[in-house]
Amino acid sequence: MANLNLYICLFVFCISLFSIQIKSLDEHPWLYKKHAALFVFGDSQFDAGNNNYINTTSKANYWPYGETFFHYPSGRLSNGRIVPDFIAEYAKLPFIPTYLHPGNKILVYGVNFASAGSGALVETRKGRVIDLQTQLVYFKNVTRLLEEELGDAEAKDLLSRAVYLFSVGGNDYSFPFETNSSVLYTYSVEQFVGQVIGNISQVIKEIYAVGGRKFAFPSMWPLGCVPFSRARVPEGENKCFEPIAPYDELHNKELSKLLQKLQIHLKGFKYSIPDFHTLLEQLINHPSKYGFKEGKTACCGSGPFRGILSCGGRRVKTEYYLCDNVSEYVFFDPAHPTERAYELLAQMAWSGEPSFTGPYNLKALFES
Ligand SMILES: *[C@@H]1O[C@H](CO)[C@@H](O)[C@H](O)[C@H]1NC(C)=O
Ligand SMILES: *[C@@H]1O[C@H](CO)[C@@H](O)[C@H](O)[C@H]1NC(C)=O
Ligand SMILES: *[C@@H]1O[C@H](CO)[C@@H](O)[C@H](O)[C@H]1NC(C)=O
Ligand SMILES: *[C@@H]1O[C@H](CO)[C@@H](O)[C@H](O)[C@H]1NC(C)=O
Ligand SMILES: *[C@@H]1O[C@H](CO)[C@@H](O)[C@H](O)[C@H]1NC(C)=O
Repeated sequence: MANLNLYICLFVFCISLFSIQIKSLDEHPWLYKKHAALFVFGDSQFDAGNNNYINTTSKANYWPYGETFFHYPSGRLSNGRIVPDFIAEYAKLPFIPTYLHPGNKILVYGVNFASAGSGALVETRKGRVIDLQTQLVYFKNVTRLLEEELGDAEAKDLLSRAVYLFSVGGNDYSFPFETNSSVLYTYSVEQFVGQVIGNISQVIKEIYAVGGRKFAFPSMWPLGCVPFSRARVPEGENKCFEPIAPYDELHNKELSKLLQKLQIHLKGFKYSIPDFHTLLEQLINHPSKYGFKEGKTACCGSGPFRGILSCGGRRVKTEYYLCDNVSEYVFFDPAHPTERAYELLAQMAWSGEPSFTGPYNLKALFES
């Protein structure tokens, strides 16, 4: 009976969406041929609502998430737009649809597979997130659907012109600290970072094998300096949570080495590393230089630095503080920047100088 209902419902939905798709391609038949598509993978930094459709607490489908730009809680963990939204805008694409959105049948501009809380390792919040390996399975499904829709040659062309944007690893490093997991004691920093980078490498190679050429990996944030981590440091010390720093620092070195190596070995492979680590450090420590008033305390949350994940009152507790003017803050909730901070990160990713975003910036990747 459940199957029957689903079938009828899908059937009706498919018919109506099919006509929308034909219409939009008719109106702009050149659009997807002219603009490179954007495929997005990773965690809450880039999740635009996939987690709305899974059983997890890592979601943001409630107020005040989304209060500023969309005026509804879309599932983005911010008050408004996040980096992939700005990149899509700069690349003259519509907002990139999320894979799990039941209405999404338009794939030619790219798809967002990111899932808040997820990592490169399947163990990271297993069962409560879409891990990177599963995101890759979903992506392969999309490539099959594109082949059916456009034919093999045109699908291949779309996939090779597309940009593949990732935010992955942060949860692999922070989750063991949240749970005091034994991996912190059984693996050295080198071994653990090696596993994360090894899994990322394998995913890149599989995307390359189906035609992907242009990859963008913003550097890992200073994970210990977000309000959530800062709140773990004994009160009054006002410093970053230091034990996690060796992980994000080594990750950034190894990621850079990996991408250089892949560029040598894989024909046509190009990449970009926007330096989010450095820009976030700047925003946190010198907010006023960038027009913010507060870099260390979140707009929404509770406890020291508002570092307790209570924004919206649906997780650890119901009471929380919400600031009056979100534009003054670098962080919206204990672990995620505000739209204004994300916009600065996106601008740097798009058109940053080689010292910040290299060897290519995203503009150059999209135009190449
Ligand atoms: C969702 O996950 C929670 C915790 O793992 C579990 O107790 C609950 O039964 C799950 N709900 C559904 C609908 O699967
Ligand atoms: C692949 O896509 C089709 C069509 O959207 C869907 O019915 C199917 O469940 C998908 N498979 C996976 C593994 O996501
Ligand atoms: C974390 O686990 C280790 C080893 O299992 C133990 O020695 C340590 O006391 C634990 N720390 C906390 C804060 O629970
Ligand atoms: C991927 O991660 C798993 C742990 O989830 C690890 O056992 C495996 O060795 C990693 N793969 C590579 C290629 O590093
Ligand atoms: C909010 O803060 C921004 C940035 O400091 C400022 O430009 C704006 O005027 C403030 N808005 C209000 C209503 O105070």
